[in-house]
Amino acid sequence: MQKKQYDAPILLLLLAFLGMARFAAAQAMSEQEAAAKAQQILSQLSTGEKIGQLSQLFYFGPKAPAELSPGMPIEDAVAKGDVGSLLFVTDPATINRLQHIAVEQSPHHIPLIFGFDVIHGFRTIFPVPLAMAASWDPAMVTRVQSIAAQEARSVGIDWAFAPMVDIARDPRWGRIVEGAGEDPYLGSAMAAAQVRGFQGDAIGESDHLLATAKHFAGYGAAEGGRDYEASYISDAQLWNIYLQPFHAAVKAGVGTLMSAYMDLNDVPASGNRWLLHDVLRDAWGFQGFVVSDADAVKSLAAHGFAKDEQDAAVRAVTAGVNMEMALGHDAYTKGLPEALKQGLVTERQVDEAVLPILEMKLRMGLFDHPYVDEARSERILADPEHRAAARLAAERSAVLLRNEGSLLPLKQSSLHRVAVIGPLADSKLDTLGSWSFQEKLPETVTVLEGLKNKLGPGADVLYEQGVQIRRKYPSMFDALFGVKPEPEWPASEAKQHLDNAVRAARESDIVVLVLGEAQNMSGERASRESLALPGEEEQLLEAVAAAGKPVVLVMLNGRPLDLRWASAHVPAILEAWYPGTQGGNAIADLLFGDAVPGGKLPITWPRDVGQVPQPYAHNTTQDPEDSGIRYWDEESTPLYPFGYGLSYTTFAFSNLKLDRSAVTPADTVNVSVDVTNTGAVAGDEVVQLYTHQRYGLASRPVRELKGFERVSLKPGETKTVHFALDRDQLAYWSAATHGWTFDPSIYDVWAGDDSRAALHAQFEVQK
Ligand code: NOJ
Repeated sequence: MQKKQYDAPILLLLLAFLGMARFAAAQAMSEQEAAAKAQQILSQLSTGEKIGQLSQLFYFGPKAPAELSPGMPIEDAVAKGDVGSLLFVTDPATINRLQHIAVEQSPHHIPLIFGFDVIHGFRTIFPVPLAMAASWDPAMVTRVQSIAAQEARSVGIDWAFAPMVDIARDPRWGRIVEGAGEDPYLGSAMAAAQVRGFQGDAIGESDHLLATAKHFAGYGAAEGGRDYEASYISDAQLWNIYLQPFHAAVKAGVGTLMSAYMDLNDVPASGNRWLLHDVLRDAWGFQGFVVSDADAVKSLAAHGFAKDEQDAAVRAVTAGVNMEMALGHDAYTKGLPEALKQGLVTERQVDEAVLPILEMKLRMGLFDHPYVDEARSERILADPEHRAAARLAAERSAVLLRNEGSLLPLKQSSLHRVAVIGPLADSKLDTLGSWSFQEKLPETVTVLEGLKNKLGPGADVLYEQGVQIRRKYPSMFDALFGVKPEPEWPASEAKQHLDNAVRAARESDIVVLVLGEAQNMSGERASRESLALPGEEEQLLEAVAAAGKPVVLVMLNGRPLDLRWASAHVPAILEAWYPGTQGGNAIADLLFGDAVPGGKLPITWPRDVGQVPQPYAHNTTQDPEDSGIRYWDEESTPLYPFGYGLSYTTFAFSNLKLDRSAVTPADTVNVSVDVTNTGAVAGDEVVQLYTHQRYGLASRPVRELKGFERVSLKPGETKTVHFALDRDQLAYWSAATHGWTFDPSIYDVWAGDDSRAALHAQFEVQK
C-alpha cells in the first residue's frame, strides 16, 4: 500500500494519462487514515526533506522562473525535495510541470501544494469581503466562495489564503476591506461561511480548496491604522473580540491558519507560542497547520525579537509555525539544519511541524490526483452562472445610505438624458477592488457600462471623468503588476474636465456621480491618515451638486469615507463598495429598482477620522452620550450606525417575545420577533438582535450583536424570526476572573433594523 502510494510515480503518471485528474478526486480521506499515512511517509524522510516540506516559496510564473537562491532554480529545489509548497503559480500547465517534477523526481514523490490569494474570486471577481459582510447573508457568501474555489482548483490551485477574519475597527487601516468589519458575531458568521465555501463540507471535497484563516491574530488593531504596526490588545478584547472569528473558523474545520506579521503585545504573532500553541492547539484543539505570512519568520529578527535568521527559524517553529512562506530564500532551510545539530530544535519538534502538512496533502487528495485537467479549467472559468452569482452578490452587498424624497429607484421613462460622472465611473480595475489578479479585465462591467446596458442602445448618456485621483506614494502591487497611473492632467486641462462635468450635470435630467477610492487605495500597504474623499473629489461633488439636478452618489470604496457634506446635500447615496466583475450591471439594477437594496453596514461609519475607532459595542460610561460631552467640535455619534441600511420599502418590527423572563445559567432563552413589510415593493430586511448585560464582574458593552437573519418579504407580508440566547452567546472573558464568566444579571434584549434597535425586552439570569 505504502509502496503503491508513494514510491510509484509511474502509477501516478498512468492515472493522469487515463484522465484521473484532480477534479475526479471525490473521495476525501478521513483524518485518521491521513494521520496514519502521514506518519508512514514521515518515517521515510531525511531531515532535509522534512525541512523542505516546511518551506513555501513564491513563484512568479509562468514566464519568470524563480530562483530559490542565486543559481538554484526552484525546479531544482523541487526535484531535491527542498520545497513543500509554492504560491502565486496560476497557470495550469506550469502547475502540472512543477508537480511532475515533485512527484517523479523528488526522493519520496511528495506532491507540492499550490497556494494563492483567492480572496474574493479568481477569474470571476465577487464583491470585496467587507461588501460581502454587508450582505449579512452567510449562505450567499458560502456560495460565492465555493465558486471562487472551483475556479481556482480548476487551474491546479489547492489552497486559498482566505478568509481574512481580522476584526478591524479603524478605517484608516487599508486592509479593513479584506475582512468582515468590526463585529465579532458578524465576523464569526462570515468566517465560518467562507470556510464552508472554500472547503466544502469536508477537506478534500472535489472542486474545493483548503482555506486559511488569517492573520492570526490582532493585525486589524494596528496602531494608528498604520499597516504592519504593533497591536496592543487587552486579554479581554483578544478573547471577546479579535480571537472570536478565528475560533469560529477553527470550529468550522478550517485546515490552516496564517500567522500575522505584527507584534502582538510586544511578542510578534509569528513567534508567539501562547497564541499559536496554547490558544490554537491546546484551548481550541486545532489539528491543521500554520503557515507564516510572507517573510514573517525572517522578520522576527527585524522586529528585534530574534537574534538572527537562525534564531528566527527556531523561534517560529517552536512557537508553532509549521510552514514558512518566503519571498526568496527561507529561514527554515537556512537555519534549521544547523539548529538541529546544535540542539536548539529537536527532530521531534520538526516532525510535529511536518506531520499536519503531510496530513493536509493527503486529505486534499494530492497524492492520488496530483495533476490538473488543463482543458477543463477553460470551461469552468467561462461558466456564465459564475457571472450571474457575482451580479447577485453585488446587489445583495450594496447599502443604501440615503434616499431623500424616494429619488431611488429611478424611472427610466422620465429620464431623457443621464450624466454619469466621476473618476471611478468607467474604471474596470477600480470596480474590482484589491486582490484581483486573474480577472479578464474586458469582462468587468463598470457603472457607466452597466447603466448603458440597462438603458439600451439609443439612450442619451453623457460621461465625464471630472477629476483624477492618485496615491501620494505608489502602490507595491502596481509596481509588481506593471499598472501605470494615468499621466497627470496639467492645471488647465484639469479645470476643463471639471467644467465639462458640471456642464454635463446641468444638461441632464439626473446625475449618477461615482466617487470613492481607486482599488490601490485599499488593501495591503494602503492605509490612510485621512478619510476625506481623495484628490479633488469633494470639489467635484459640490460643483456637480450645485448644477441643480438630482444627484445619486454611488460610492466605490473599501472603507468609510467622510461623507458629511454629501449626507446633508445629496439626496441619494448608494454604498456599492468594490462590487466586482458584474458591479456595473448590479448597480444599474439597484438604481432602477430591478433589485432592492438590502445590505447593512458591517462597520460604524464615522463623521470624521478624529472619531476613530468608534465601535458601536463600546462600554457604558459614567455620563452617557450627549452632544458636547465627548467632543466640543463635532458630534460623538457616527454618521451612520453599525447595521444601518435603507430599502425601497419600509419595515415594522413588533411582538418581541422571550419565552421566559428568569432563567438559570444552564437555560436557553428563546426569542421571537415579527417583521412586516409595510411598503409597496418586495424587499429584504436584516433582523438584528442585540443584548446588554446590566451589571456583573466586568463592564460590558452597551450593545452586542447576538443574532441576525436576512429575510425577504412581499408587501404586507409578516415573518416571525427566532433566536436563541444561551450561555455560549452570553458568557464573556472577564479580566476580573481571567477566564470565561457567565454572570447572574439582568440582560436587555433589542430587536430591529440596526444597532439602534428600539424594540426592547429583558430577562434575568439567576444563580
Ligand atoms: C502578505 C499578506 O499579508 C497576506 O495576506 C497574503 O496572503 C500574502 N502576502 C501572500 O500574498
